[in-house]
Amino acid sequence: MSKQSIPTWLKRNNGFSGPYEKIVEAALHHAQNGEHPHIAFEGTTLEMVTAIYIEHTKKAGALDGLYLTWRHVADKMAASLKLQPKDVLLIPGFGLGALYDAARRIQPEMCIVSVECQNWLVQIAEAVGIKLIKGDFLGGVSLPLPINKVLCNPPMGRLWGYNKVEADFLASIARHTVPGDLVAILLPGEPGYWWEKLPNAHKPLRDLYRIEDEELVPNPAAPKSITCTRYLLERR
Ligand SMILES: C[S@@+](CC[C@H](N)C(=O)[O-])C[C@H]1O[C@@H](n2cnc3c(N)ncnc32)[C@H](O)[C@@H]1O
Repeated sequence: MSKQSIPTWLKRNNGFSGPYEKIVEAALHHAQNGEHPHIAFEGTTLEMVTAIYIEHTKKAGALDGLYLTWRHVADKMAASLKLQPKDVLLIPGFGLGALYDAARRIQPEMCIVSVECQNWLVQIAEAVGIKLIKGDFLGGVSLPLPINKVLCNPPMGRLWGYNKVEADFLASIARHTVPGDLVAILLPGEPGYWWEKLPNAHKPLRDLYRIEDEELVPNPAAPKSITCTRYLLERR
């Protein structure tokens, strides 16, 4: 059988209803053989899976809060951290690895601790040899070593019973960091908006971080209604 374009392969293989298993299977095939027997694609396994996922979302929307970080945004966020070889970087919410790849482009050997709660995303990361902590970052996950920098595009808004889930991510990041640590994070709203509009329950967060830099970033992968700002925060 000749190779097919991603849209054709996706249409023939799962329609747009239950793609998780097929996407994981495609990742395994590609990772094992350096190519997929039926998909015409030049690039890494994570890039192929990302292209499949983007095609899927055009018709069916995002799966369970997985809004990808666009490469130029990921690169800017990673660059803002001025990563050094001895840094230990935490990436909560690995997704399909856009932030991981951006950090690796800057520091190929640095230690990275990633956390992801969705099984199928963990399977894809493991298929390409990336070890993750599989767990709920908001549920008291324990990290294997102290980290000093954080790179994060958290889920936003209402998800899995959380009302402002990005605020819970920031609270959890604060528990894993100490004063002086740096956090590059994408948050909804224009610069400043998110901090000014924090509901009472989350106001203590303002005392935990100092804003070093903030910039409005177009991120076409985010839900249409959400404008995003990239922040560089220092843990107080
Ligand atoms: C906005 S997406 C980030 C996508 C990623 N930067 C990328 O480009 O692929 C948020 C990610 O966080 C994960 N996530 C959401 N809640 C989580 C939790 N409580 N613990 C761990 N991961 C979580 C989602 O499964 C999703 O992969």
